[in-house]
Amino acid sequence: MIAIPTETVYGLAANAFDEKAVDKIYQLKNRPKTNPLILHVDSKEKLEALVSEIPVAIHTMIDLFTPGPITFLLPKKEIVPDYITAGKERVGVRIPSHPLLLKLLSTLDFPLAAPSANPSNRVSATSVAHVIRYFEGKIPMVLDGGSCEKGLESTIVGWENEQLTVYRVGAISTEEIENATNLKVHFFHSMSGKILTPGMMNKHYSPITPLKLTDNLQFELDKSAFDSIGVLSFSNEIIHPKVKKNVVLSKKGDLQEAAKNLYKHLIELDEIGVDVIIAEKLPNFGLGRTINDRLERASHKE
Ligand code: TXA
Ligand code: MG
Repeated sequence: MIAIPTETVYGLAANAFDEKAVDKIYQLKNRPKTNPLILHVDSKEKLEALVSEIPVAIHTMIDLFTPGPITFLLPKKEIVPDYITAGKERVGVRIPSHPLLLKLLSTLDFPLAAPSANPSNRVSATSVAHVIRYFEGKIPMVLDGGSCEKGLESTIVGWENEQLTVYRVGAISTEEIENATNLKVHFFHSMSGKILTPGMMNKHYSPITPLKLTDNLQFELDKSAFDSIGVLSFSNEIIHPKVKKNVVLSKKGDLQEAAKNLYKHLIELDEIGVDVIIAEKLPNFGLGRTINDRLERASHKE
């Protein structure tokens, strides 16, 4: 098991066919065995070797969006072990675009199983420094691929009830998918209240410091009972006596830049020891929707 860079977030990777190696990932992350892992390969052919069926719309999407930050949830072939999918019939597979990772994958004759490189429920790592802070002395190697270009996890899609279904919003926006495919995207959560995996539960991607998400920073700061507050704002700086530190996701209001900075800034605010982090909601379209999804989960109490 080693840590690997991807264009989305860093991963903890192991040979998917080596149960002991995969088990180490679960132990290290303190991840429940009921939470399945995504497989990483470097080509459509290798993806096809793992899944038994690819609906036409998904074929199109593979051609349009890979290599890239998107995961396909598809019926698994027998070759995919049950310990990867937590006994489920479908497996998540993706073809990442990070050049160093692609190079590594091209030399392997097995897929890499890799969840994000963070302890369960914590904020994903987008740099080597984050990985080391979480796992210093516990992993033999981190492959240094610089800081992650996208900064948000992959978008997870599948085909369910004859509909293109998004299970996790991610680094490819819903609008981008709809424009490229001419299909209307359905969100898994809006179709059914049931939880697919622990990873889809509300509480996730969280700093240790309590986080409050708001549309109105000024109002929230004024009424807050705390006087040492960390603020995560979208494009504007805020001056307020209770604010110990304010980080701005993108001064020019660029959603891509905001996405790339999100986890770095959340981790930074978590580490300076404030009473609470107050985060400003982003415009709810494009990557703004993904960022809001992560902040909402971060703000959930157990
Ligand atoms: O960008 C990414 O996808 C990163 C990088 C490292 O590739 N990986 C990642 O993995 O975010 P992880 O394990 O942190 O999140 C994967 C999510 C989890 O919520 C998991 O429950 C869900 O995908 N998932 C994986 N396989 C699944 C399956 N067979 N059925 C349902 N959900 C699945
Ligand atoms: Mg994760």
